[in-house]
Amino acid sequence: MIDGKLAVLAIESSCDETAAAVVLDGRDVRSNIISSQIETHKLYGGVVPEIASRQHLTNVNWVVDSALEEAGASMDDIDVIGVTYGPGLVGALLIGLATAKAYALACGKPLVGVNHIAGHISANFIEHPELEPPFMALVVSGGHTNLVEVRSYTDFHVLGGTRDDAVGEAYDKVARVLGLGYPGGPLIDKIAKEGDPEAVHFKRVYLEKGSLDFSFSGIKTGVLNYINSEKQAGREIHVPDVAAGFQAAVLDVIVDKTMSAAKDLGKDKIVMAGGVAANSRLREMMQQQCDKNGIALYRPSPILCTDNAAMIGCAAYYKYMAGGTDGLDLDAIPNLEL
Ligand code: KG4
Ligand code: ZN
Repeated sequence: MIDGKLAVLAIESSCDETAAAVVLDGRDVRSNIISSQIETHKLYGGVVPEIASRQHLTNVNWVVDSALEEAGASMDDIDVIGVTYGPGLVGALLIGLATAKAYALACGKPLVGVNHIAGHISANFIEHPELEPPFMALVVSGGHTNLVEVRSYTDFHVLGGTRDDAVGEAYDKVARVLGLGYPGGPLIDKIAKEGDPEAVHFKRVYLEKGSLDFSFSGIKTGVLNYINSEKQAGREIHVPDVAAGFQAAVLDVIVDKTMSAAKDLGKDKIVMAGGVAANSRLREMMQQQCDKNGIALYRPSPILCTDNAAMIGCAAYYKYMAGGTDGLDLDAIPNLEL
């Protein structure tokens, strides 16, 4: 306990960020250390799983030590060890999980495995102290695109998801095609501001009527086809217009489906989560629609949108309070569902 509050030491290593945090009573973040591997993976234009695992291994101990130090805590003060056990890259997950188990065993603390998506949603509880379930959540990241009905702190009902690429993956692939670099999301976000979203039209993919699923794999081909046909016709590509056109095509569908799900289920609160929730245009569009429909919109600040361990500490707290602890046989599950 620290200051009379339950202290969680949380570890996150599902993709390319090695992160650790100390979180009190779920919402009071005392430290949030994130060691990003972006500079390494940039060389390859995307995350290389084997390299990610090795870097997690190199980083995890000092990241945990820094989180404890910054919180002014020792292991004696920690009540619970929270850790992401899926979904994610299996080799990457295993490093965080093995570390968490070692601390749990050596220090005699309970272990709580956290679903990474539940973590992303929980980032909103940290940012907005007054927020409580139920609400609708839009989870948009490099690995996931989900509409989730959050019924309580631990009860999540998935209404729809992507049938192929996640939206962040589409951003990253299109950025590569446009020669912008990695990770593509923030770069497209920035350059699209200088473009005209109506200059180049890309198809909006809604799937069957009423479906809350998504499909983004076709848009990269759409962008490639457009670039090739323009080149063949001897015309210059105006990258900001293509970026703005791509962004408009994916965000129109995401915003439409989120709003219709919230209205159909009578939800008066929507929360955004995941790396793409940091996108400025998506934030703007969601805010406009929510204002129009009398729905309250919650978004974490950008640092809590992308991968971090504070969100895992928050989700671990609520799972622990609901009686959910795990054994030391807890395994990493790369395709763990919510
Ligand atoms: O949540 P996250 O850090 O990792 C996963 O769990 O996947 O999300 C990373 C993704 C990347 O695809 C990145 O390009 C995207 O989030 N992203 C953005 C923005 N910032 C990060 N996409 C669009 N606009 C942004 N500002
Ligand atoms: Zn994530």
